Amino acid sequence: MPRKKISIIGGGQVGGVLTQLIAQKQLGDVVLFDIVEDMPQGKCLDIAEASRVDGFDIKVTGTNDYKDVDGSDLVIITAGLPRKPGMSRDDLLTTNAQIMKTVAENVKKHAPNSIVIVISNPLDAMVTLFKNVSGFKTNKVMGQAGVLDSSRFATFIAWELGVSVKDVNAMVLGGHGDTMVPLVRYTNVFGMPVMELLERKYKDKAKAEEVMKAMVERTKMAGGEVVKLLKTGSAFYSPASSSIAMAQSILFDEKRVFPVCAYLDGEYGVKGYFVGVPAVLGANGVEKVLELSLSDEEKALLDNSVNAVKSLVEDMKRLGL
Ligand code: APR
Repeated sequence: MPRKKISIIGGGQVGGVLTQLIAQKQLGDVVLFDIVEDMPQGKCLDIAEASRVDGFDIKVTGTNDYKDVDGSDLVIITAGLPRKPGMSRDDLLTTNAQIMKTVAENVKKHAPNSIVIVISNPLDAMVTLFKNVSGFKTNKVMGQAGVLDSSRFATFIAWELGVSVKDVNAMVLGGHGDTMVPLVRYTNVFGMPVMELLERKYKDKAKAEEVMKAMVERTKMAGGEVVKLLKTGSAFYSPASSSIAMAQSILFDEKRVFPVCAYLDGEYGVKGYFVGVPAVLGANGVEKVLELSLSDEEKALLDNSVNAVKSLVEDMKRLGL
């Protein structure tokens, strides 16, 4: 079987870590594209020179020429500004939308058969814009948000309960913004409902609820917490790792179930928008959206998050994009 070709558009912090992870995991040959001259070439040379010690034999190409992206099987887009302290993801809309438009036109031209994972923020709007400009089929375009949001939620739960994070299954739905919906009822530790474990720990229902509420809020604001500490940019290790899990499921047709920003065609009562929902990822991209049954309260929270996504998309239309 020929090696897969994976192109990364945007060779900044997220793009650099993505390239290194793809090489180390030997998922395929990598092309790292950026508009900054020499920088992607420098990063790729640096990564390639670690191949002997890391034991990978993968072609890693840095470029400023979209021609090198030709024929990619998978494209991961990280181009765009990251947040600075005090900014919301939505504040990035105007600048990143202009960048995404150019990127989408070029991906359409050079990798028309690829599957695309978008990481650039504000995520839900950038995925929509990519789809609109490229005209790609909806199953071939998705955004990375839920894998990271649920991994953050799982991390906080593991710390709180003193269990391995590997045994925590956490679920987060909705847009990749402050309205995201961590779903406590669908979150468990090796099948055991998380609230039962918290209530047993505290022997007090109200206290358990208070602790969970704090973890839910921390999850919603987790990206901002990192931005505040870094001061010069936003999270890059965990977004890159989360996208690699998605990429792997697509490249190896693993059919893993992940919360991803996927196109909804009536599922969850939403039509025509990209929203974070659990989906099966395989060789055909988003192969199936899985519908959870939601309580009235959970549905109201999801609707609120969908409305935030819709208003971002409206803002983009007002900008003529
Ligand atoms: N085409 C390609 N790359 C571009 C373009 C463009 N038109 N415009 C900017 N870039 C590149 C920049 O040169 C930079 O190297 O995108 C890269 C972005 O890298 P960083 O500034 O380091 O940002 P990073 O932390 O990687 O985040 C990238 O991912 O998580 C999101 O919110 C985050 O939108 C941001 C994106």
